[in-house]
Amino acid sequence: MTDVSSKGPQPGDDRPVLTNRQGHTVFDNQNQRTVGSRGPATLENYQFLEKMSHFDRERIPERVVHARGVTQFGFFEAYGKWGDEPISAYTRAKLFQEEGKRTPIALRFSTVIGGRDSAETARDPRGFAIKFYTEDGNWDLVGNNLAVFFIRDAIKFPDVIHALKPDPVTFRQEPGRIFDFMSQTPESMHMLVNLFSPRGIPADYRHMQGFGVNTYRWVNEAGETKLVKYHWMPKQGVKSMTQADAAAVQANDLGHATRDMHDAINRGDYPEWELLVQMMDDHEHPELDFDPLDDTKVWPENDFPPKPVGRIVLDRTVDNNFAENEQISFGTGVLVDGLDFSDDKMLVGRTFSYSDSQRYRVGPNYLQLPVNQAKGSKVRTNQRDGQMAYYVDSSGENPHVNYEPSITGGLREGQYPTEDVVGPEIKGRITRKRIERTNDYKQAGQRYLLMEDWERDDLVRNFIDGIGQAERPVQERMVWHLLLVEDDLGLRVGEGLGIGPDDVKHLEPLASQDLTEEDRQRLSNLG
Ligand code: HEM
Repeated sequence: MTDVSSKGPQPGDDRPVLTNRQGHTVFDNQNQRTVGSRGPATLENYQFLEKMSHFDRERIPERVVHARGVTQFGFFEAYGKWGDEPISAYTRAKLFQEEGKRTPIALRFSTVIGGRDSAETARDPRGFAIKFYTEDGNWDLVGNNLAVFFIRDAIKFPDVIHALKPDPVTFRQEPGRIFDFMSQTPESMHMLVNLFSPRGIPADYRHMQGFGVNTYRWVNEAGETKLVKYHWMPKQGVKSMTQADAAAVQANDLGHATRDMHDAINRGDYPEWELLVQMMDDHEHPELDFDPLDDTKVWPENDFPPKPVGRIVLDRTVDNNFAENEQISFGTGVLVDGLDFSDDKMLVGRTFSYSDSQRYRVGPNYLQLPVNQAKGSKVRTNQRDGQMAYYVDSSGENPHVNYEPSITGGLREGQYPTEDVVGPEIKGRITRKRIERTNDYKQAGQRYLLMEDWERDDLVRNFIDGIGQAERPVQERMVWHLLLVEDDLGLRVGEGLGIGPDDVKHLEPLASQDLTEEDRQRLSNLG
């Protein structure tokens, strides 16, 4: 160790010399420039002012959701198949085609509601966002650890997040506000049954699943399309925590999941997930009792078996948290040829929101940052300037031509691999309407019945704790919903809250919901 309090280089100290950002050597980093050793500082104190004003700007706005997270790097390895069939029958996306082909990836895990330094033990969905640096440019698959979501239309996202975030007055996450919103949002029941079960607190990031949640499309060489959903299965297995487990972990560590990930990678125990894909023909599927574009639903695995297409391995942590975790930017619009959007009303809304938020929080040239660059392919755009532009994309031979078309040089358009995408034709009036097959309760009930006893017990306990903190009319409406989800669930939660079926049978269905025959039957059973 060198004694830093003494001025000037010490004999034998061959460490690199500190400079400022202009490349000037810093001769004294301990003392400001002053008039005499006790006198006032002066305004031309360039080295001091640069150091302090850069420090003053070290923070950028944190993500409005998913602020706390951890990023690591690794690779995706393709199987070249969808199950036993060649994958080229369904998608022409290059990263999937050859068995054994590897594509570099970055993966950011996160919690959703807490701030950048919040506890990782929260009952909260976990983000599972992957950036594939493919030869055709980047593909981002921005998913969560739970297979469904609270809402099915992006216009409700700011509301659901406001309800889940801290109260604007008390700045505390208030279960009363959460259940007030959810009780008026019947499509949230499936998500709530997952979130308030042990799955709502994964043991850590290595032991959880991932899901694309929204419905996407695959496009093959002939332009034919299929609807797909993505699933990530951890080779490490799935482990969750009860509320009591989480409280014990949180008492010692607010960042246990980040630490676990760093420790595992640093000891060479590289975590791995398999990517499985569910597929269906690209149309409305009138035979199903749900809409394939509804992200509050799962696709039954017996009818739409998830088939493996590849795996990922994470083998490197970040060199710098700010550069690679804070500034990394994912979005659902970031797709490569062969992968496409669906008309899922959440997905279209998300696709606007992500890059909008990144232009605000990181800056308009966020895609020039190393972690966000399309490393696998050559980037050539006619985009110019903006805050913090630090390079100019190549425009070919003639640097004067930053527009297209031109006969004097510059860039030209590429050519579609096929004539067109042969997706379904869409017809309809411009309207504001919810989808027809809302079916808000059935899958939530099936999920409840599939749980093990201890998971059901934990779910009931957590619901009673949370809903019990809401106003009485909210509690009653929640019990009404849970009775429609599954008798046993509604009765047990109701019992804990002192609310029986008789107390809620007078409630009318909400204006914002449609009931199925089965729902009506359950309602009439209430009395
Ligand atoms: C992050 C919006 C639904 C997963 C974000 C961010 C925004 C956003 C603005 C911050 C982006 C940034 O600043 O970098 C929305 C909207 C949604 C929606 C408007 C609904 C309409 C979902 C759903 C999922 C999801 C359904 C899961 C499938 C994520 C993840 C991140 C994220 C994982 C963190 C990405 C990262 O690690 O940087 N979302 N979101 N979001 N969202 Fe969503």
